[in-house]
Amino acid sequence: MLRRQNGAVSSRSGDAAGVPEAREGGTAHLEARDVLIQYSKPGSTEVVTAVDGCDLTLERGDFICIVGPSGCGKTTFLNAVAGFVATTGGRLELDGRAIPGPGPDRAMVFQQANLLPWRTVTANVTYGLELSGRATKAEARRRAEDLVELVGLAEAAHSYPAQLSGGMQARVNLARALAVEPELLLLDEPFASIDAQTRETMQVELLRVCAARDVTALFVTHDISEAAFLADRVCVFGPRPGRIVKEIQIPWERPRSHEIRRTPEFAAVCDEISDALYGAIAAAHDNDLEGVH
Ligand SMILES: Nc1ncnc2c1ncn2[C@@H]1O[C@H](COP(=O)(O)OP(=O)(O)OP(=O)(O)O)[C@@H](O)[C@H]1O
Ligand SMILES: [Mg+2]
Repeated sequence: MLRRQNGAVSSRSGDAAGVPEAREGGTAHLEARDVLIQYSKPGSTEVVTAVDGCDLTLERGDFICIVGPSGCGKTTFLNAVAGFVATTGGRLELDGRAIPGPGPDRAMVFQQANLLPWRTVTANVTYGLELSGRATKAEARRRAEDLVELVGLAEAAHSYPAQLSGGMQARVNLARALAVEPELLLLDEPFASIDAQTRETMQVELLRVCAARDVTALFVTHDISEAAFLADRVCVFGPRPGRIVKEIQIPWERPRSHEIRRTPEFAAVCDEISDALYGAIAAAHDNDLEGVH
């Protein structure tokens, strides 16, 4: 048994029983089948099963949101797609190939921007590119300037992180991830620490930026209306060990504007997500109680 980052217990993907064969008629961009992810407990033979039986198909250009209770394995699943955490079983593939580890084809946007305080906005955006060595200094700068403009920060290009509001930092965070031109953008509650008003603005901006750059996105959030506003499909995780218990199709074309939030259809979609989420939590609770009796 191999052990990789974060104490994840690995026996390479593709070895779990009952994994469905590859789909007919082409390869999905990302395909998860019966994914199992376990962590080892330090100094013990015990394992924590974070994700079990997770199935997901994501095509190029999709925008998928994941919602689920705290601790159900959302970040773990995203980290596995990023290649930071190894799967223990099942199949997790990008373009038909098992994920070998982190790669420039994927970029992660975390909740905390963690910008480099001694670098300007533009220099923060070029940083990843400079490290990867995939662009000359001039090319990195040109790309960063385009992105800084795309996320609406042209006037703050020469500012330092301490001079930015939370919303502006979130924009830099997004531009920085896009700078490496990832095929798949992974976002883990990227707007969780910004105020509600700025957050709604950022959601509209994110959809605009994704449309402009033809981005495929997997976005984790606790906010049901955020998921309904952003996604083509909302995947609801049940409590740990996490797996997708329901997928809800969102009927609107992207990009979207704020007006849809005020429609009865939007409220109905939010209710559907909410019912699936709280239904899964209640079902897990009932199962636990059955185990006690
Ligand atoms: N490195 C690790 N080592 C051991 N256990 C871990 C590790 N990382 C996460 N876990 C455990 O795996 C489970 C899932 O954690 P994860 O962070 O994926 O949940 P989450 O759905 O993202 O939660 P939240 O919504 O609170 O962010 C939790 O029980 C957590 O304690
Ligand atoms: Mg998390």
